[in-house]
Amino acid sequence: TQDKIKKLIDLRSEAKLGGGEKRIEKHHSQGKMTARERIEVLLDDGSFEELDMFVTHRCTNFGMEKNKFLGDGVVTGHGTIDGRVVYVYAQDFTVFGGSLSETMAQKICKIMDMAMKVGAPVIGINDSGGARIQEGVTSLAGYAEIFERNILASGVIPQISAIFGPCAGGAVYSPALTDFIMMTEESSYMFVTGPKVVKTVTGEEISVADLGGADVHASKSGVAHFKVEDEQEGLLLIRKLVSYLPQNNMEEAPVLECNDPIDRLDDALNNIVPDNPNLPYDMNDIIFSIADEGEFLEVHRNYAKNIITGFCRLDGQSVGVVANQPNYLAGVLDCDASRKAARFVQMCDAFNIPILTLVDVPGFLPGSGQEYAGIIIHGAKLMFAYGEATVPKVTVTIRKSYGGAHDVMSCKQLRGDFNYAWPMAEIAVMGAKGAIEVLEGRSIAALESDEEKAAYAQKKTDEYEEAFANPYQAASYGYIDDVIEPRNTRFRVIRAFQNLQTKKVTNPPKKHSNIPL
Ligand code: COA
Repeated sequence: TQDKIKKLIDLRSEAKLGGGEKRIEKHHSQGKMTARERIEVLLDDGSFEELDMFVTHRCTNFGMEKNKFLGDGVVTGHGTIDGRVVYVYAQDFTVFGGSLSETMAQKICKIMDMAMKVGAPVIGINDSGGARIQEGVTSLAGYAEIFERNILASGVIPQISAIFGPCAGGAVYSPALTDFIMMTEESSYMFVTGPKVVKTVTGEEISVADLGGADVHASKSGVAHFKVEDEQEGLLLIRKLVSYLPQNNMEEAPVLECNDPIDRLDDALNNIVPDNPNLPYDMNDIIFSIADEGEFLEVHRNYAKNIITGFCRLDGQSVGVVANQPNYLAGVLDCDASRKAARFVQMCDAFNIPILTLVDVPGFLPGSGQEYAGIIIHGAKLMFAYGEATVPKVTVTIRKSYGGAHDVMSCKQLRGDFNYAWPMAEIAVMGAKGAIEVLEGRSIAALESDEEKAAYAQKKTDEYEEAFANPYQAASYGYIDDVIEPRNTRFRVIRAFQNLQTKKVTNPPKKHSNIPL
């Protein structure tokens, strides 16, 4: 029996070396951690239970039967983050470049199935040369097995993808189907076709980084929700992200102890909005002020910066925040901002995370560029996501809330539960200047002198502002439940969410909705 135990220990040691010391050394020399090292940082100390350590590939093409590594190109198993169970897989670049074999796909599918059974998040760490070339179509089938599981698990358990190396071709589609994608600067890239193919097909010459690096996906395409400097930072950020999420769609996110007084007043908020409605301010300051301990985990920080999305805690409860950012493009809604926020709202709703919406929106971005890009459809997405969401929804209108954008931003009639406004809010069909041009353009043109025109326009603008540039018209109809003092926003919002804890709303039975895509 001693021999048998020794054999087990030897096999385990062999498996832990993946593709061998030389390849590990090369991997380390590129500033990258091995699959197991990554898992160790990600999970609570000593909590990792590895599965399928003795699985090897079954390929016999190109002499592959003589070239096998225990565990094949992926490390899989489960462990805990802050004591809560998660399932994890980490592709092992030291084994055939982490390329996906049939057996590797089976290992990944096994932990996805287990995660669905027990209702726990799946975290996938990607670092792979794509489909295992020697295996041909079985590898493609393997991808599709994973994709199908990603799709079925969507909205049931949180799925998080970290990209810590190459992720190209079909491999991109598993992360793309998950809830969050994280990329490391410099060492990771994602694209459907690489620079060589791009050059052959279209003649375009472009570097790997410019085509699919972390910067590009975090700011231009919006594919990546998070960009981090290195793997360590990324893994710790995933631990934090998980803390805002429930284990599955039947549970709620953990409520942490809150040491920040819920009735904390912030006098600075009474002065944060400039007197001139055309001047910006930083919406982040309002979010930090309302949130427990000023903590805010921003999602999609560098993409469509005219809208802010992210997580905070209010009285210890995880809350998703959606807020227009007047500091960037005046907080206007465009295609990218609408898509970004729509996805976030849907994710919050799927995982029972209440939504706080802070509104300062001058409207939709006008112009052919936006119309041709389908702003009608993209704006509708955000409206759809809000209108369909059944989680508690609290809206605070800080300043502007004009036109169709007013409706989109979690208004009362799209099932906003509590809709508050600050006294400086302007809830109207449009701003005074635009309104007077439409309503009084002809009368103004008929006047003789410029002075007369200016005086008349000013008089009408003042009348319009008096009537509409305030929250009280909306409040008089009950579209705004209360006008609140800015410095007391934290308390009012927290009390609203406390009240909504027992909220129960369901949608009509259907197979699924047909959100405009
Ligand atoms: N299938 C099988 N083996 C693969 C592989 C794949 N798709 N991708 C990489 N490998 C192997 C390499 O043969 C090499 O094996 P070795 O250690 O025994 O020499 C090892 O993985 C490391 O690859 P290497 O090319 O040395 O690493 P690199 O860091 O220089 O380059 C890539 C990484 C991903 C850019 C490069 O390997 C590549 O272009 N791979 C193919 C990508 C592809 O077209 N995939 C199929 C489409 S989905």
